[in-house]
Amino acid sequence: MMTQIGNYAACVALAVVLGGSGGAAFAGDAAKGKATFVRVGCYECHGHQGQGGVAGLKLAPDPLPYETLAAFVRSSSGPMPPYSDKILSDADLSDIYAYLASIPKPPDPKSIPPLNP
Ligand code: HEC
Repeated sequence: MMTQIGNYAACVALAVVLGGSGGAAFAGDAAKGKATFVRVGCYECHGHQGQGGVAGLKLAPDPLPYETLAAFVRSSSGPMPPYSDKILSDADLSDIYAYLASIPKPPDPKSIPPLNP
């Protein structure tokens, strides 16, 4: 449990440092990625929108930089199973990334009237 929290904090820090790489300009196909995210089971732990679940961390909005995410998915040795390119091709992984990058951020609380009497 401690390691998971540690990894998560490290990833968040990395995401802040490297933030912005990837994002909207990414080449994958978000619609195909959404289907692949379900087909290979990412959603079972991370939720349909990558929002995080009981088992898996939040992946979106604002996914990690592609290289960091891809390296983790290919080589995870913790509670998440690694996905080799036999199970998940590079193209499929790019599509998943495009899907995660396409998930909108939640609204700014300042834009929600009941929260701003
Ligand atoms: C069996 C449950 C499970 C499945 C299926 C799964 N994950 Fe995970 N995932 C996890 C857990 C648990 C972690 C936290 C692992 C750790 O800290 O070592 C994690 C971590 C991650 C991380 C690192 C997040 C961060 O901020 O550190 C990424 C990226 C990720 N998963 C992507 C995916 C993708 C993409 C798929 C599908 C190809 C997938 N996962 C499938 C359980 C799962």
